[in-house]
Amino acid sequence: MDRKILLTLLTTAALFAQRGGGPGGPGGQGATLAALRTAALPTPTNLNQYVANTEALTVLGKAFFWDMQAGSDGRTACATCHFHAGADHRIKNQLANPHEGTQSLVRPNQSLTLADFPFRRLANPNANNSAVLRDTRQVFGSAGVFQANFLDVTPGSAIDSAQAVTLRPGLFEIGGVQTRQATARNTPSVINAVFNTRNFWDGRASNTFTGGTPFGPSDPGLNAWVERSGALVSQPVRIENASLASQAVGPILNGTEMSYEGRTWTKLAQKLLSLQPLANQRVESDDSVLGPYAATENLGLAVDYPTLIAAAFQPEYWQSQTRDANGNTQMELNFPIFWGLAIQAYEATLISGNTRYDQFMDGNTAALTALEQQGLNEFRNGGSQCTQCHQGPELSAASYTNVRRRTTNNNANLPNTLGFFRLGVSPVSDDVGGAGNDGFATPLFPTAPTNLTQGVFKAPQLRNVELTGPYFHNGGQATLEQVLEFYGRRGDFPGDGNLGTGVAQINLNGAERTQIVAFLKTLTDDRVKYERAPFDHPSLCIPIGHEEVPPGQLRQSANQQIPAATDLWALIPSSGRNGNQVPLQTFEELLQGIGNDGTRAHTLTQPCTQ
Ligand code: HEC
Ligand code: HEC
Repeated sequence: MDRKILLTLLTTAALFAQRGGGPGGPGGQGATLAALRTAALPTPTNLNQYVANTEALTVLGKAFFWDMQAGSDGRTACATCHFHAGADHRIKNQLANPHEGTQSLVRPNQSLTLADFPFRRLANPNANNSAVLRDTRQVFGSAGVFQANFLDVTPGSAIDSAQAVTLRPGLFEIGGVQTRQATARNTPSVINAVFNTRNFWDGRASNTFTGGTPFGPSDPGLNAWVERSGALVSQPVRIENASLASQAVGPILNGTEMSYEGRTWTKLAQKLLSLQPLANQRVESDDSVLGPYAATENLGLAVDYPTLIAAAFQPEYWQSQTRDANGNTQMELNFPIFWGLAIQAYEATLISGNTRYDQFMDGNTAALTALEQQGLNEFRNGGSQCTQCHQGPELSAASYTNVRRRTTNNNANLPNTLGFFRLGVSPVSDDVGGAGNDGFATPLFPTAPTNLTQGVFKAPQLRNVELTGPYFHNGGQATLEQVLEFYGRRGDFPGDGNLGTGVAQINLNGAERTQIVAFLKTLTDDRVKYERAPFDHPSLCIPIGHEEVPPGQLRQSANQQIPAATDLWALIPSSGRNGNQVPLQTFEELLQGIGNDGTRAHTLTQPCTQ
């Protein structure tokens, strides 16, 4: 497709960039609950310095996010772990520390069952000092790539060349055959993540985008390359209100999530710039963003990445014909900026503010049943304490609205831990959360006292929580009932001291827990549940564990460069703007095989043939 046609398409294409807007500045929106419509949307500063066309930016971002060719194995996209209501509900080969449980040992590549949850099982689930029947102490993460050392890319091929590494016995291997690695925390949803001032469970994706790493101002890099007097020189990048861009430059080179160890941005750029976007993935002609660019037969896009970058970004950042000392082009050198800002623009369209709860808050009193209204009242009043931490239009104290409300200078990069709490989900020694350092050895919350950072995690927004199990940073609860039992007993590890504002005061009986669960299920947006625009997407093949023949023995794949197990694949079919006929399967349903008769989408039972 030539650039002129592309630009015409961009001005005519109906792109769904639903925006929040409304009040929310200091003194405006309070901690009180409200419809998501009233949330303050972080607007990235000085974006125009880099971006020429925000519609092209969103097209590019959606393609990047769903493109399986981005991963070193040519099969791992961002969406591989964020395909299901923005999260991941796979149940096999998802444990970060398969052999390290203290009592119930779940080995690598084992499917979890409902009986494996909650990970910490008590004789009396209402009393956190009752006998511990089981304490798995494992982390339910998401399967990423096999571990290997990166060697090179071959332009035109999606698969990076790699070299085997020495495996750690028992970790991501059985009998010397490697399984895919899994992340050390549970995957949160990307939907509504635009409202988080700092992304990730521990907030390490900075509000300030530096064009190179997730970590904000502690990154000393000069990450933008421009031509001056016939040579490429580098400049600092500082874009505020851009936590999603900061986040997006993390996983793509991460050795567990998407990359063989040691891959660089310029190598990744060389590969992706040479490939047809989304080649072999189906794109519906009525996809709300990509539809106008779908190739014939709907496989991939008819426009390439260099063309999309040229349409989206200012020429100053890509059109130079000069190369740097290493022979890299300007477009390759600025690729992290393109990647971060484009994915951020796409994710900023993933706002799910049309839930029955939002309709109720907007005055439609018939939108919630009597039970659900009781749950809402219990959630915001009663003994539940929920709104100490899940507050405001986003249902999170870590939101941009709340951070702006609480600061006078509009500086969202707060040194304190506003919106981050310790609930006693796991012992601090298992995961220090906010007490960790960023990639430049700077503490995540440099000026906050240790007792406010140890084991604290971001209070998640709760919309679509019905669809995004398992729950908490360790993925240790399978159902909302289990989450409410956890709160009812005031956390699992009270011995670690301070359990955040409120948790120690929670007072909930069985009836109140039932009401709150009913309320939480009103936070589902039907467009998410049925994958309608803007939540429609290309098709995707996701790995769902490995073949074992006989059971317990992994079969080594014939066509791998490294001794790795044969993957099993499931198809996540594409959806167009009108979405699916049937609702998404919940995590609990997947654990029980409910919906495999075709009454649910994403049952992971459809094979992938590509
Ligand atoms: C292998 C699985 C995997 C892949 C691939 C992956 N993610 Fe994630 N994602 C995760 C996990 C796990 C977390 C939480 C990690 C943490 O907080 O420490 C996360 C967190 C996030 C968050 C933060 C949400 C929040 O509420 O804090 C966003 C946004 C996100 N990912 C987007 C992306 C993008 C964009 C890509 C591709 C560049 C990507 N992810 C690739 C697993 C994955
Ligand atoms: C002290 C602050 C605080 C209070 C009070 C609180 N929460 Fe939370 N909530 C959090 C934090 C922090 C997390 C993430 C904790 C973790 O993973 O370690 C969380 C996680 C959750 C999750 C899991 C979401 C996910 O995607 O994994 C749900 C559901 C939830 N809370 C609902 C509630 C309800 C309902 C109440 C009231 C009964 C409540 N919370 C009270 C701070 C709080």
